[in-house]
Amino acid sequence: MKRDFLTINDLSRSEVLSLFDETAGLKAKRGKENSTLLARRTIGMLFDKPSTRTRVSFEAGVYELGGSVVFLHRSETQLSRNEPISHAARVLSSYVHALVIRTYDQAELEEMAKYASIPIINALTDMYHPCQILSDMFTVWEKKGNLQDLKVAWIGDGNNMAQSWIKAAALMGFELALAVPEGYDPSSEILEQARAASEKPITITRDPIEAIAGAEVINTDVWASMGQENEAEVRVEAFRKFQINSKLLAQAGPEAIVLHCLPAHLGEEITAEVLEGPQSVAFEQAGNKLHAQKALLKFLIQGTQC
Ligand code: CP
Ligand code: NVA
Repeated sequence: MKRDFLTINDLSRSEVLSLFDETAGLKAKRGKENSTLLARRTIGMLFDKPSTRTRVSFEAGVYELGGSVVFLHRSETQLSRNEPISHAARVLSSYVHALVIRTYDQAELEEMAKYASIPIINALTDMYHPCQILSDMFTVWEKKGNLQDLKVAWIGDGNNMAQSWIKAAALMGFELALAVPEGYDPSSEILEQARAASEKPITITRDPIEAIAGAEVINTDVWASMGQENEAEVRVEAFRKFQINSKLLAQAGPEAIVLHCLPAHLGEEITAEVLEGPQSVAFEQAGNKLHAQKALLKFLIQGTQC
C-alpha cells in the first residue's frame, strides 16, 4: 500500500529514528553513491508558493537517486482553471511515481492523497511543514545525540512550523516550550491532541525568557508566513519582544543550538549576530534537507510499482 507524508504523524517514532540513520548514511556517502533507486522513476512537484530550499533540495535529491523531476507551478496547470483535485490526482498518478506538493490548504493535500495511487508528500501547507521538521529533528539528533532528553523552545508565531514541532514533540517524546504572543497561538486542537499523546510537557507562555530557560534547542521562524504578507506590519508590533537576540540567547546557556528553517528576516525574528553566530546551525540545517528528503523518498518509494 502507498504511504503518504502529509504530517509527521504519517511516520512512527521508530520509522523516524531509522530515517535519521539512513539520512546520516546518505550524508556521509554523498557523491560516492551510485544510486539507481529512482531509475526510470519520475517525481512530480506541484508548487503554489515560492521555495528555494525545499524545491532545490528535492530536485537535486531525486537526480542523485537516479530519477527525474517534473516541476509544475500550479498556475500553469488546469488546477488553476478549476479542474477537480480528484481528477488531477488520478491523472498525475499515471505519469509520476510520487507527488511533492506545496500549497495553502492542508485539506487539498488530503484530497489529493485520497484519490492518488502514488505517495503524496507535503512540502508545506499553512498548517504543517513535515519535510522541514524531519530534517530539523535530524539536525538536532546529529548535534545532540538524541531528542528525548532535550528541552526545545519555540519563540514566535504559532504557525505551520510551530504546529509541526508540537506534533513532533508528542511523537518523539521531547519537552517543548512555546513563547507566542497573544492572538497568535497554534491551533488548540493540534495542541490538545499532542498534549494527550505526549510523554513530556508541551507548554505555552507569553514570556520568551521563561520558554528559553534551560532549553538545549531554540527555534524561530518568520513573523509573517507566505500568504500573510498584508499582516506583516501589525505582526512586527505584536512580535517585537519575541526576537532571538544575544540578550535572550544568554538565558539559554552556551551549549544551546539555534535553528531557523529559513528564509530569515534579519532584525525581526532573529538578529544577524545570532544567525551568523557560533550557536546557530541554520545553514547546516538547510543542507540537511537534501539528505533527509532523499531518505524519505527512498522510504516512501521503495516497493512501489515502476
Ligand atoms: N525552509 C524552507 O522550506 O525553505 P523554502 O521556502 O526556501 O523551501
Ligand atoms: N512559516 C513559513 C515557513 C517558510 C519555510 C511560511 O510558511 O512561510
